[in-house]
Amino acid sequence: MKALILSGGHGTRLRPLTYSQQKQLIPVANKPVLFYAIEDVIEAGIHDIGIIVGPNADQVKKTVLSRNWDADIEFIYQGEPRGLAHAILVARDYLGDDDFVMYLGDNILREGIVKHKEHFEKGNYDSSILLQEVPNPQQFGVAELNEDGKTIKRLVEKPKVPPSNLALVGIYFFKPIIHEAVRNIKPSWRNELEITDAIQWLIDHGYRVGWTKVTGWWKDTGKPEDLLDANRLILDDIRADIKIGTKARIHGRVVIGEGTEIDENTVIKGPVVIGKNVRIMNSYIGPYTSIGDNVVIENTEIEDSIILEGSEIRNAGRIVESLIGRGVKIINGTSHPFGRKLVIGDNSRLIL
Ligand code: TTP
Repeated sequence: MKALILSGGHGTRLRPLTYSQQKQLIPVANKPVLFYAIEDVIEAGIHDIGIIVGPNADQVKKTVLSRNWDADIEFIYQGEPRGLAHAILVARDYLGDDDFVMYLGDNILREGIVKHKEHFEKGNYDSSILLQEVPNPQQFGVAELNEDGKTIKRLVEKPKVPPSNLALVGIYFFKPIIHEAVRNIKPSWRNELEITDAIQWLIDHGYRVGWTKVTGWWKDTGKPEDLLDANRLILDDIRADIKIGTKARIHGRVVIGEGTEIDENTVIKGPVVIGKNVRIMNSYIGPYTSIGDNVVIENTEIEDSIILEGSEIRNAGRIVESLIGRGVKIINGTSHPFGRKLVIGDNSRLIL
């Protein structure tokens, strides 16, 4: 089996961050979201991985190749994002006649895909999709099941009257028949080749589409609040690992990378992840915060936030539930206590 991981698309809902970086590369708990997908695929025993790249292809290649993966990775250029089924169309030669799992590179699944892959293989389905019960199915692609409960009857996009509360997760297993399906569907009203239409084509032509239920948490990191949520969920599972000596007051599970300096006037309350060569002085770092490499924080309180690498934050009062890009400078000459919620793109400058 091969894997097709999607790392194209414009990520408009994550602007301004996605003006300068591909959304699947934004780190959660200091690891690019895309890496969680690659790890899941390798854990499931799949070592041939095609990664779909689009607008920021070079950035994705460079980041992925910065690690040694136990897999052969190829990059497949999609260009303009013309839909999830279009990604399969452009990967036709790479996929050949192999079964494959398609994994949206901005999705994170706590339980991985091992048991879902087994279900697809044992059931000899033509496709098998992952579904999760959600309280608001109106906002998702939703599946209606056949009476046997084992196969899918129909998929509906954002239904006003949902046929079930089972939402489609961004992970799909396919046999090569899907190539015929993607060749035979037409673009939707938003001018994309929709994967739901291709799966519906399989069903309408008598092919068996099975499903499995996702029981742990699943996050589609399409919007800033989703990234913060994913950050909380990942940090909930971290183990303490402090690579430096420090006199700072540290409570709970905290990870600190090499070369980082934290002074004795700083308090850190986990779960928190702090990267390498970070400098933190006279500050408070509260629960559910991830701080990237080479960040400087002085006289500031930060909680429940993601701060990307190379940013500098001085006298900034209290920052909560914020997503701050790379190389950002937040500097305040006079320090007054206040609270802020921020989404700041890379290389911005905020003078308070
Ligand atoms: P979406 O989140 O639906 O699209 P997007 O990334 O363009 O984001 P936005 O709606 O904010 O503009 O895409 C789901 C995943 O699939 C995401 O990881 C991007 C990827 N993708 C591609 O690689 N190619 C495509 O043609 C499309 C539509 C998405």
